[in-house]
Amino acid sequence: MVKPANTAHDSAQSGQRDVQRPLMQVYQRFPLSIVRGEGSYVWDEQGERYLDFTSGLAVCNLGHVPPVIKEAVQNQLDMLWHCSNLYHIPVQEQLAQALADYSCADQVFFCNSGAEANEAAIKLARKYAKQVKKTEKYEIVTFKQSFHGRTLATLTATGQEKVQQDFDPLPAGFRYLPYNDLNALEEVAGEHTCAVLLELVQGEGGVVPANPEWVQALAHLCQEHQLLFMVDEVQTGMGRTGTLFAYEQYGIEPDVITLAKGLGSGFPIGALLAKAHVAQAFTPGSHGSTFGGNPLAASAGLATLTEMLKPSFLPGVQELAQYLSDGLTVLAKSKPAIKEVRGKGLLQGILVAEGQAKAVVDAARDKKVLLLLAGPDVVRILPPLTTSTAEIDHMLNVLEECV
Ligand SMILES: Cc1ncc(COP(=O)(O)O)c(C=O)c1O
Repeated sequence: MVKPANTAHDSAQSGQRDVQRPLMQVYQRFPLSIVRGEGSYVWDEQGERYLDFTSGLAVCNLGHVPPVIKEAVQNQLDMLWHCSNLYHIPVQEQLAQALADYSCADQVFFCNSGAEANEAAIKLARKYAKQVKKTEKYEIVTFKQSFHGRTLATLTATGQEKVQQDFDPLPAGFRYLPYNDLNALEEVAGEHTCAVLLELVQGEGGVVPANPEWVQALAHLCQEHQLLFMVDEVQTGMGRTGTLFAYEQYGIEPDVITLAKGLGSGFPIGALLAKAHVAQAFTPGSHGSTFGGNPLAASAGLATLTEMLKPSFLPGVQELAQYLSDGLTVLAKSKPAIKEVRGKGLLQGILVAEGQAKAVVDAARDKKVLLLLAGPDVVRILPPLTTSTAEIDHMLNVLEECV
């Protein structure tokens, strides 16, 4: 039976239904209800159009409702929605093959989100240390200001206390080092360390790209001490930085890569990719997921990857990225309030005064352009990879008015 009006679900004063009430209040939502999307734009309930330079937080890399992905998922909807991973799922195998063909990894495990992909990476690192390397090592080194997810293990991997607060006792076996700090590298290999996990651009932590010299030294150190080198490409993957994966720009090959966000163009799917000698640590029963890589999600992933592998796609992203970063750099010269422009590809951030980023994002939204925060002093700009120079110009004009 539906509860009568003016009970706990309704605001006592007005008797009006509070749309937020039935939801747990875990998000600080912007005051905007989005109901439709197409390409670089979304529409609110009143029919107002917004230029979406958040891409659903780096998910809708091909824009909203991309026709080729829609067609692939629609075809799959007619065939088979779900099938247990106790059976072979051809479209999942095709996606795994394509990911293996176009990365340095050999095998893939599918899940449903970034946190799950990192959770699986943490399990794989420990299992590999025990089963393959025959050691008792278990510790994973991560970096301060990182973000790896919200499950108990991944929030522990995350190098930010605010994410961990009140969830103790946290799982043991994580240690945090300063990011981009060559001097701290000597602390990487500890008695119990089996792996490192890092983002190549810290997204949530303020859009901070890893310095190539540091990444190469870290990778070298991992090789020397036989530690797994694991990259969290949940935000940087799937073309976001101008290459399919960000690691390609660093001259290194990770042992493990995690993906989610852009992989399904909005259909939830995550993936753990690993080199064969590491992946062998997982055997039947080691890990699993009811929905992971189900036919609908895998069809979205396969269509997304196929689109991104078209010869003109990634060079086009690189051109747009250069255009955006040039535009932001020019803007920063005329606006002293912008202290720094940083990022990689179409994941860009502008550093403003402490506490000022939200005012910029709010002002831009009033002008019908959606941007994001990455901490109190960074405005994060995540256009779809299919945006245009005209849309970038429009965002830059709005930013100029708002900073
Ligand atoms: C680098 C990185 N890793 C992991 C996650 C967690 O992904 P999800 O929210 O899909 O669990 C995020 C989400 O923002 C992320 O940016």
